[in-house]
Amino acid sequence: MKTFHIALIPGDGIGPEVVAQGVKVFKAIEKMDDSVSFTFEEFPWGCEYYLQHGKMMDEDGMEQLKQFDAIYLGAVGYPGVPDHISLRELLIKIRRGFDQYVNLRPVTLLHRKLTPLKNKTEKDIDMLVIRENSEGEYAGAGEWLFKGKPEEVVLQTGVFSRKGTERIIRYAYEEARRTNRTLTSISKGNALNYSMVFWDQVFEEVGREFPDVNTYSYLVDAASLYFVEQPERFEVVVTSNLFGDIVTDIGAAITGGMGLATGANINPEKTYPSMFEPVHGSAPDIAGKGIANPLAAIWSVSQMLDFFGLEEWGKRVFCTIKEIINHEEHLTPDLGGKASTEEVGDYFVNLLMQTKELDV
Ligand code: NAD
Ligand code: IPM
Ligand code: MN
Repeated sequence: MKTFHIALIPGDGIGPEVVAQGVKVFKAIEKMDDSVSFTFEEFPWGCEYYLQHGKMMDEDGMEQLKQFDAIYLGAVGYPGVPDHISLRELLIKIRRGFDQYVNLRPVTLLHRKLTPLKNKTEKDIDMLVIRENSEGEYAGAGEWLFKGKPEEVVLQTGVFSRKGTERIIRYAYEEARRTNRTLTSISKGNALNYSMVFWDQVFEEVGREFPDVNTYSYLVDAASLYFVEQPERFEVVVTSNLFGDIVTDIGAAITGGMGLATGANINPEKTYPSMFEPVHGSAPDIAGKGIANPLAAIWSVSQMLDFFGLEEWGKRVFCTIKEIINHEEHLTPDLGGKASTEEVGDYFVNLLMQTKELDV
């Protein structure tokens, strides 16, 4: 029997509401498959914890997390604690501290009724955005000079190391080659005359090792336009930390909203645990109402199962997400249904037990 140890960080707002549904999915799999089991340890870290203890996680929090096979996170950030503290001291700390430099964010239309784009179907919107997740614009380097004075100047420095840039771009080329898809780089060399000129150069250099991969390179403004007007241009996409953050929200918008967008923060070398989480945040506007869509968080479970090498289960969970989209009465209001978060989780598990072989 294979046992996987999972650290749960439900976090803030709707985070705990959606993570609870994902945990139901793991438990259902355990029941159906004698060869796997999952253990969970919950960490109460987040904004409430900060208000009580003055810190977002335990002093030795990273040490505690190190022993797990993976981390399952809900969302972090809530009014009352400045976002740059809550996010940088928990979420970004884990991504960077565990060198989870690959952020895999699928932008996949599960059903044509979910896109607001006219005349676009499942075959037009099916890409994988690979976001650099450890440095770049999120490096946290900068300075606040002459605070409060008329000559006040604030610097926020992007850090693009050769190692960091090459490894994410190489990862993306390998993924494009492995899956026989095109690779598009999104950058902004016309305005960012150091970081993005370097990025474009590395994209070209590494590309020489992959003459079989067809490539495109777009400026981020034009790429944003194409995401909406011609998403069929994109298959595998590689981009920097900040641009990846922004374009994947556009990706969510064209595939059914934040309730259906997932992301895996991967440390490919497996030196440290990887982390799985929905793309959305704590959604204070709907927190506590029991109407958050748990499907993004459940999709994160599918990504985690793939990562564990349990691809059959990963695929089955994914197929069940596709299937539940057809059962409108069992969806949350953001997808046109009337069901609660819990009801979706429970119905999902029922469906998972029934859906063995579905067409993907
Ligand atoms: P958000 O993603 O929380 O919400 C944006 C909009 O999407 C809201 O209207 C919300 O109701 C809706 N939405 C989000 N998730 C949904 C779901 N599962 N089902 C239905 N609707 C959903 O973004 P925000 O409002 O900009 O941020 C709120 C807080 O979350 C901030 O503190 C922000 O920093 C933080 N945040 C955290 C993460 C993370 O932990 N990974 C990600 C994004 C934002
Ligand atoms: C995301 C979020 C985070 C990011 C924030 C909350 C720091 O928006 O995961 O997309 O920008 O990476
Ligand atoms: Mn984001």
